[in-house]
Amino acid sequence: MNPKFLAAQKALDYIKSNITLGLGTGSTTEIFIKLLAKRATDYSGLIFVSTSTQTTNFALKLGLTITPFEEVDSIDLTIDGADEVDNKLNGIKGGGGALLFEKIIAKNSKECIWIVDSTKLVDTLGAFPLPIEVIPFGYKSLIKKFETKKLNPKLRLLNGKPFITDSQNYIIDCRIGKIENPLELEPELKLLTGVVEVGLFNNIADKVVVGYTDKTEILERK
Ligand code: A5P
Repeated sequence: MNPKFLAAQKALDYIKSNITLGLGTGSTTEIFIKLLAKRATDYSGLIFVSTSTQTTNFALKLGLTITPFEEVDSIDLTIDGADEVDNKLNGIKGGGGALLFEKIIAKNSKECIWIVDSTKLVDTLGAFPLPIEVIPFGYKSLIKKFETKKLNPKLRLLNGKPFITDSQNYIIDCRIGKIENPLELEPELKLLTGVVEVGLFNNIADKVVVGYTDKTEILERK
């Protein structure tokens, strides 16, 4: 079986009627949204908020209604993917470019569950390039700062042009190697003027549903 499918399917166990549900971004979340849409009649009173234009469009095509985040009082649960997860359930996100809205939705959710295939589990974060969302104005000065910090920065491109996020920003991907202290690195980077958000998601996931080819495993943050 497809490990992403198994993780997405398992996440359905956490969905109840009458909750506000944050929908993450990425291929695993899209499998989850498809499964959820198929079972829509099993639930009543579900309210959905989205973490990206990509997810909004995907959900709308499947007949789900997306409520703007500004119009909900609170979010009960968010189901999202991740690019890397360490054994403390800290993670790197933003491979799909949606890290800013993903973090806003996650930080405003009572519970966050990530759905990943087992290849995303690592001892130490950093093999996956860390996405950093920056405002376009003066981004080259940030690239220089990241170079000074030996973060191996590279502006993300799409068809030869800068990739533009939902908030009209750029993304700089940093090939850092091992991130020994993600809790220190996140605020250090975020404090640089021009940085909008960092793809380090520390102490955010409450649970991670890991999909293997034949089973799922639930990891819980201690
Ligand atoms: C989107 O910006 C990312 O944070 C995704 O959640 C992450 O890349 C996981 O994507 P997949 O489910 O496609 O692996």
